[in-house]
Amino acid sequence: MKVFTGKGQCSTCHAGAEMTNAATAAVAQSPLTDGADTGFANLGVRDPKEDVALGGLDVNGNPLSTAGAPAGAVDGMFKIPGLRNVGMTAPYFHNGSAGTLRQVVEFYNRGGNVDAPNKANEIKPLNLNDSEKDDLVAFLQALSDPRVLLQQAPFDHPELLIPHGAAGDTTSVATSAPGVADDEYLELPAVGAGGATQIQAFPNNPFLPGFLQQLPAGSFVPVTGAVPPAAPVTAEPSPTPEAPVAQTGAVEQTASTATPTVAPTVSPKVTKTRLVATVTTVLALKHGARLRARAVDNRARADNGRRQLILLSGSSIGKVVSRRDAYTLSARFARAGKVTLRLRLARSQLVPGRKFRVLVDTMGRRGAVATARFDVVAP
Ligand code: HEC
Repeated sequence: MKVFTGKGQCSTCHAGAEMTNAATAAVAQSPLTDGADTGFANLGVRDPKEDVALGGLDVNGNPLSTAGAPAGAVDGMFKIPGLRNVGMTAPYFHNGSAGTLRQVVEFYNRGGNVDAPNKANEIKPLNLNDSEKDDLVAFLQALSDPRVLLQQAPFDHPELLIPHGAAGDTTSVATSAPGVADDEYLELPAVGAGGATQIQAFPNNPFLPGFLQQLPAGSFVPVTGAVPPAAPVTAEPSPTPEAPVAQTGAVEQTASTATPTVAPTVSPKVTKTRLVATVTTVLALKHGARLRARAVDNRARADNGRRQLILLSGSSIGKVVSRRDAYTLSARFARAGKVTLRLRLARSQLVPGRKFRVLVDTMGRRGAVATARFDVVAP
C-alpha cells in the first residue's frame, strides 16, 4: 500500500473506497479536472491514433467528452477503472495487453508504452525495485474479496445460462428452423450460499473454452497463487541431451528401443455427466518417479502447438486428489507399482466424438524426461 499511495502515485487516479476517480461522487462534485473529464486519463497504453477513446464521437456525432476540449486534448483517454477484485479480472487495460498484475506493474514502472502530449504526468519511469513491485502486486491481489473468489453469499448465484452466440463456426451455424440460428448457451452451475470451488482467473476458466488459454508458458501467473502456471504446450517435452535419462532410466515411450517408465495397463474408461467427462485408467510404473498428467486437444493450431485442457478439481493421480482446477496434476511415487489416474474434464472444452490426448510425463530434475501418451475419444 505504501508503494500504491507513495512512490507509485497510483492513488492519484485510483482513489477512495472505489479506487477510481471516476466514482460518481467525485464526478458529480467536479465533472472536470484541469479542463479534462474527471476520471479519465491517457496512460500511453497505445497510440491514440489506433483508438481515440474519449476523443471520439457518439453515434449522433456528439463528442464523448463532456469537456468539449480542443481537438486532440482528450484523445487516448480511458476511464480509470476501480480496482476492487482486480485479481480476478485479467487481462488488463482496454486492449487486454497486460495478462497479469505483474505485467500491469511493469507497464507503470516503465512509464507506459507510448508518449502523447496529453499523457498523465504520473506515467513516467517509477524505478521500483523488485520487492516494491512484489509489494504492489500483493496489494492489488489483496483487493479480492474472498467471498467473491469462493462465490459465497452474497455473491452466490442460481444456475445461469449465458448466451454464447450460435452453435457452429465462422462459416456456418446450426439452425433451429430454416434461416434461424440455433442459440448456444454456456451453463454456469448454481452455487449454494456456502459457495463453490474457487473461481479461476480469466484464462483458466473452464467455461471459456479455448479463449485466451494459449498464453506462452510463464506469462500467466494465476492471481490466486494456487494454480501452477500453464505448462508449455507448444512443444511436447522430449529428452534433451543433458536430461538425466541414464539416472532414471526413463525414456520417451515412443522411442522403440527402450522401456517406458509408465504405461497405461487398461484401456482408458470414459464416463460423462452433463458437464463433466471423466477418464480413468491404470498406469504401470516401472520405478519410483514424479509423474505429471495433462491433457491436450488434438486440434492443431497455427503455431503447431496444442490446446491444453483444464483438469477439474477432483481429478486424481494415485492418492493425490486435486482441490482446484489446473492444467497439470502431479504426484511423487516412491516405488514401482500400479497408479490409478482419473482426470475430470469440462465437457465444454471437448468436441464429442473427437479424440483428445492424455500425456503422462515422468519428471526429472529439469523437467519431463519421458512422456507416455494415449488418445481418448471425447464423449
Ligand atoms: C494517471 C492516472 C493513473 C495512474 C497514476 C495509475 N492508473 Fe491504473 N489505470 C488508469 C487508467 C486510465 C486505466 C485504464 C487504462 C486502459 O484501459 O487503457 C488504468 C488501469 C489499471 C489497471 C487495470 C484494470 C483493468 O481492469 O483493466 C490496474 C490493475 C491499475 N490501473 C493499477 C494501477 C497501479 C498499480 C498504479 C500505480 C503504479 C496505477 N494504476 C496508476 C489510470 C491510472
